[in-house]
Amino acid sequence: MTVRHFLKDDDLSPDELIEVLDLADRLKADRFARKPLEGPQTVAVLFDKSSTRTRVSFSVGIADLGGYPLVIESGSSQLGRGEPIEDTARVFSRQVAAIVWRTGNQSRIEAMASAATVPVVNALTDQYHPCQLLADLQTIREHKGRLAGLTLAYLGDGANNMSHSYLLAGANAGMHVRVAAPEAFQPDPAILEQAWALASDTGGSVTVTTDPAEAVAGVDVITTDTWVSMGQEGEKSDRAGVFTPYCVDDALLGKAASDAIVLHCLPAYRGKEISASVLDGPQSVVWDEAENRLHAQKALLVWLLERSG
Ligand code: CP
Ligand code: NVA
Repeated sequence: MTVRHFLKDDDLSPDELIEVLDLADRLKADRFARKPLEGPQTVAVLFDKSSTRTRVSFSVGIADLGGYPLVIESGSSQLGRGEPIEDTARVFSRQVAAIVWRTGNQSRIEAMASAATVPVVNALTDQYHPCQLLADLQTIREHKGRLAGLTLAYLGDGANNMSHSYLLAGANAGMHVRVAAPEAFQPDPAILEQAWALASDTGGSVTVTTDPAEAVAGVDVITTDTWVSMGQEGEKSDRAGVFTPYCVDDALLGKAASDAIVLHCLPAYRGKEISASVLDGPQSVVWDEAENRLHAQKALLVWLLERSG
């Protein structure tokens, strides 16, 4: 029995990534074209952390595919009371077609996948947010017509899930990824090394700096994320000062290519990591990006289900 999971961005090869993005475009053009979950089959969508976009897009997407989304807050399940992750995986695998999970440490979703006999999808962990990157890449391709060879700058917390996913997914897509982050918030060195290895195969590149102006010079895409990720609320006051120079404002945007686009996975904190004028301005594509969560995740589910069983 083969099962394909999507736990981190490079679980799809560069060619497979393009297959999923192509399918996402087709599903965006013809939303109800595929019904692999007709019956309906159920997909479990579990949350250990808050969510708006991920909850809506998976719920709507699973329904679009003919299935039933079983959304569970872990706090109300036995998982939240310490039932082993592997036992949860075994129980779910007997009854659902796939498991989508937003949780904390990556080791938790790896444990789920190790015991599951249906596809497991990472809906955000502390280390990665790969579903978001599928939507981001779909959005970039829509606006720029290609991915390989484009330059993208991510500003802010270099050690968080979005930074790591930009590094891996961008390198996988053959992009030139630049991360600008304060010294104490640089990417995980092991993930950087993986991104470098991927980029050397795809013709992309990866660079890290502490200088936001250097990172955005001439880029095609600027992106950022909250300075305080879920679970880091206690560090909020310490973080504010060190990140201030990384705010994506008009001055920084002015250093990018004149036709650069701006992404943000949302939720956004205007006046912190991004100014209101940029987030709500003409170069922002954040609402397309939020919509594309739906199309990209439907494509991913179809693709994983077709290759598992
Ligand atoms: N971008 C994103 O994952 O949003 P939610 O936290 O609202 O799901
Ligand atoms: N880095 C953020 C992403 C939210 C979608 C977090 O983990 O809270």
